[in-house]
Amino acid sequence: MAAASPIRPLARSRRRFTLPRLTRRKSLGSTRATPTPGPAIRGEALKRCLADLENGSTGFAFASGSAAIAIVLECLDQGAHVIATDDLNGGTFRLFGRVRKRSAGGEVSLVDMSDPQRVEAAIRLQTRLIWVETPTNRVLKLVDLSAIAEIGRRRGIWTGADNTFASPWVQRPLDHCFSVVVHSTTKYLTGHSDVIGGIAIVGDDHELSDRLRFLQSAVGGIAGPFGSFLVLRGIKTLALRMERHCANAQTIAEALDRHPSVRRVLYPGLSNHPQHELARRQMSGFGGMVTVELATDLAGSGGCSNESDCSRSQRASAGRTA
Ligand SMILES: Cc1ncc(COP(=O)(O)O)c(C=O)c1O
Repeated sequence: MAAASPIRPLARSRRRFTLPRLTRRKSLGSTRATPTPGPAIRGEALKRCLADLENGSTGFAFASGSAAIAIVLECLDQGAHVIATDDLNGGTFRLFGRVRKRSAGGEVSLVDMSDPQRVEAAIRLQTRLIWVETPTNRVLKLVDLSAIAEIGRRRGIWTGADNTFASPWVQRPLDHCFSVVVHSTTKYLTGHSDVIGGIAIVGDDHELSDRLRFLQSAVGGIAGPFGSFLVLRGIKTLALRMERHCANAQTIAEALDRHPSVRRVLYPGLSNHPQHELARRQMSGFGGMVTVELATDLAGSGGCSNESDCSRSQRASAGRTA
């Protein structure tokens, strides 16, 4: 049923702690630990809903997608090495390259994962996480989820996927044995551009869920009740919207591919996408994002002298979920 149940905000919880120096049990309030006991409480309902949609065991709701990714990174010890896709959402790139590097001495290797062998070759003694976006946020490269998960399991390295650009309607990385999936719920999951949120969902790795649970309560950055309510409301129409996003993007990509002013269209649903076969294998739709390189500048007055300017300025807004 599509009816939304009422919001019951809970900023404080009553927890019973046994304090070492007290002889009786004392009830304490915590503004962070909030174990939200009832299904009608939005944060809890959202976590359960997304854990179900992604076929995971436990979900953790955050104030933004970046907060979710930051806490996953916080699960790593100091000096840990991360292998990430070489085409990443800018915020994630900053978290890996500038934030964790300074605060925790983290190292990141950006790898073109279209050949999983390159991931294997980049593994070091300190590698603790392989991080993928697929399709990637820029040029829509794909990563073979099963192949990367297999490398992670064999080498004892956590694997994380940012599934924001696909949504669980299109693919479920945990089904391929990834350790953790995150979403910026700001995008497809909410679908109405009226909330910023994030979620991390863990498969069967209890050590990782324990670390996330502790860090979420220690660091904060959690989703508020109203934002969680809005994401849940959006998810009710996710399937319908994704179907339409995919159909629209396919039509637009095909039309642009024939256009004389277009140098190149990157869309996993086009048969000329270099990883179209992989897309057919692991995605149940090709997504709503289309990347376009024009053969002209924005004024339409001729060739683009600088290829990266062309692709940057003309990345198609067709699939933006806003
Ligand atoms: C693929 C991807 N992941 C994560 C994020 C960060 O999400 P948020 O804006 O909710 O912090 C973005 C933002 O654009 C994104 O595109």
